[in-house]
Amino acid sequence: MSSPAPAFASSPALSITYPHRIPKSRFTYKHLAQLISYSPTTPLRVIAHVDLDAFYAQCETVRLGIDPSKPLAVQQWQGLIAINYPARAYGLSRHVTSTEALKLCPDLILQHVATWKEGDESWGYSADAFKEIATRKVSLDRYRQESRKILKCIRDALPSEPGMQRVEKASIDEVFIDLSAQVHGRLLERYPELRGPPPYDDPAEYLPKVPTTVLDWKADALVETGREDGEDADPDWDDVVMVLASEIVRDVRKVVYDTLGYTCSGGIARNKMLAKLGSGYKKPNQQTVIRNRAVGHFLGEMKFTKIRMLGGKLGDEVVAMFGTDKVRELLAQPLEQLKRLGDDTGTWLYSTIRGEDHSEVNPRTQIKSMLSAKSFRPAINSFEQGVRWLRIFVADIFSRCVEEGVLENKRRPRTINLHHRQGGQIRSRQSPIPQGKPLSEAILFDLAKNLLAQVVVDGRAWPCANLSLSVGGFEDAITNNKGIGGFLVRGEEAKAMMSSGRLVMSGGEPPAKRRRTKGNIKSFFAPPSDKKRDFDAARKVLMASRESTREEEEDEVEGSDADEFGAPPLEEPKERPTTPVPEKDFYISNTPPSAQPQMTNPEPMVVQKKRSPEPPELQQKTDTFFCVKCSMRLPSSEKTEHEDYHFALDLSKEMRAEERTAPKMMHAAKNTPVVPKPSKGRGRPPGGGRGVDKGQAKLAFGRQT
Ligand code: CTP
Ligand code: CA
Ligand code: CA
Repeated sequence: MSSPAPAFASSPALSITYPHRIPKSRFTYKHLAQLISYSPTTPLRVIAHVDLDAFYAQCETVRLGIDPSKPLAVQQWQGLIAINYPARAYGLSRHVTSTEALKLCPDLILQHVATWKEGDESWGYSADAFKEIATRKVSLDRYRQESRKILKCIRDALPSEPGMQRVEKASIDEVFIDLSAQVHGRLLERYPELRGPPPYDDPAEYLPKVPTTVLDWKADALVETGREDGEDADPDWDDVVMVLASEIVRDVRKVVYDTLGYTCSGGIARNKMLAKLGSGYKKPNQQTVIRNRAVGHFLGEMKFTKIRMLGGKLGDEVVAMFGTDKVRELLAQPLEQLKRLGDDTGTWLYSTIRGEDHSEVNPRTQIKSMLSAKSFRPAINSFEQGVRWLRIFVADIFSRCVEEGVLENKRRPRTINLHHRQGGQIRSRQSPIPQGKPLSEAILFDLAKNLLAQVVVDGRAWPCANLSLSVGGFEDAITNNKGIGGFLVRGEEAKAMMSSGRLVMSGGEPPAKRRRTKGNIKSFFAPPSDKKRDFDAARKVLMASRESTREEEEDEVEGSDADEFGAPPLEEPKERPTTPVPEKDFYISNTPPSAQPQMTNPEPMVVQKKRSPEPPELQQKTDTFFCVKCSMRLPSSEKTEHEDYHFALDLSKEMRAEERTAPKMMHAAKNTPVVPKPSKGRGRPPGGGRGVDKGQAKLAFGRQT
């Protein structure tokens, strides 16, 4: 254990003479040394968060060479997705439309985000883009390119020696930097008394006291301590560490500005959670230091929904459960109460609101997946239209793959996913990307088309409100000749290829049986002729390629060009508390797993994926109805269709019962089944179906899709 600490390592005798008067640090030589290895538990740890100010807006002022003091906003269709600070002074926010914005600030420069137009080889800027929501989709490529330049610039401003740099790209416009090792170097340079070895060679020895009582914080915003005596306590080494880190961040920000012309804000604190809150505390173009002595006061005043990971559903759930969004009030809740959110989530929350976060700065910068998406207003209604959008998505994704080094065979994705939204239902299809030959736009396009064809053939694909395509499972490609093995599918890929392509049902019938009866039901809603053409087009694509799909797997998304009108894409938090919410559950419609019926219905209801269980009150708010026949809660928008489904189902049962007791009804002459007439509308005959021509109904059900 430690012995009484000397004032300075060079004069240990002092400690013997005046032990009670020896000023000591609270930190040990071990704590100091732990900085070199980025230990997340050393109390001297220091992390920075750097976030670009009004990023997309700055990208546009820089690109166009516009004076940054002029108000500018980035427009997406009729909405605004980024507003620079001069424009914010007019009260503009992401919630106003472009028309309202011009009323509030007539001098506002409105720049529409770049878009892809169908048929174009690449994205570009167009003055008319805002009028063409139906035929264009947003491209964030320009902002990604700038993001990469900025990241490189930040790296170049940091030491390049091995182990001295740890940077994590947290989103398109922000990074975390673990400055521990670099600050350790500066500490030893400036304070030779720290160089050790520790007295008695004991790392548990306390460090000498900081040789000053005043630190120069320059122009940094210092978060107050909230205590009268808070500033009186002499600085300790954690404060010095913060000063040095703050110097580094100031330099980094200056290099970014001088090289590329972008301003950004910084936060400096002992962990990622606090550093991120710091960078957003004073904006633009400022940096904020949250010293350890100020943490309690800083967090206490805050809404916990501002904390990383608590901004979304989890935060809503906590608010709903405890009736407050204030950290101070939540601090009063004992751990046991917080564990009502689940053991891990509760424990995570308990330490988070106390300013603890040991998560590491993760230097991984490699992309795991890419997504391209489009919301349709109005909805699209045919396979052909869908395919036209897929062409754009593929061009978008492939150009990003090229930047990732796909052509040089450096890295390549292993899977391709399609999400299709119709009403409140999301269908997902996934397929492996063949690994044996070079990846091309044509290969991706064929795979994508195939996935859409599967959705269409499964039925009820239109009207479609949203389509998204993603590639994932990026891995480093093996560049040497893999021989025949390189062309064989392995593990997950093989499983995927063998699976039936249907989403997994809980407790249902065996897939073969389900499929057969599903076909029956499907034919009952026989498509009108244009729908039939659509269906045939999709089926043709499927016939041409017999790829299968499998259940979608969640992956981390690099960034998305999803362009929800008026609701721009949110950067998802890249990291989450240990186990906050189940991520991979597939629910049937809006029914939580506990309420899922044992599915015996031949036609599987579409499986909808949900990110996290909704708090009970949110569930009530969803517009749903309860189907007594299958004990399921479903979106109201599907009521009619669902009733039709039961009608068809009942009918099918009736007919099968009849089939068992009567000989098959055939045209005696040809010995072929009667061709059914396409049913009108949704196929519900007058009089609730009791008056259906039996032969017709029976044979309609007999046809396989
Ligand atoms: N963004 C978006 N949709 C959101 C949130 C962010 O499109 N719901 C985009 C913004 O256009 C923004 C960029 O992502 O430029 C970074 O977002 P963020 O850092 O949250 O905002 P900034 O616009 O950079 O503004 P700030 O200065 O407050 O950081
Ligand atoms: Ca920002
Ligand atoms: Ca940001």
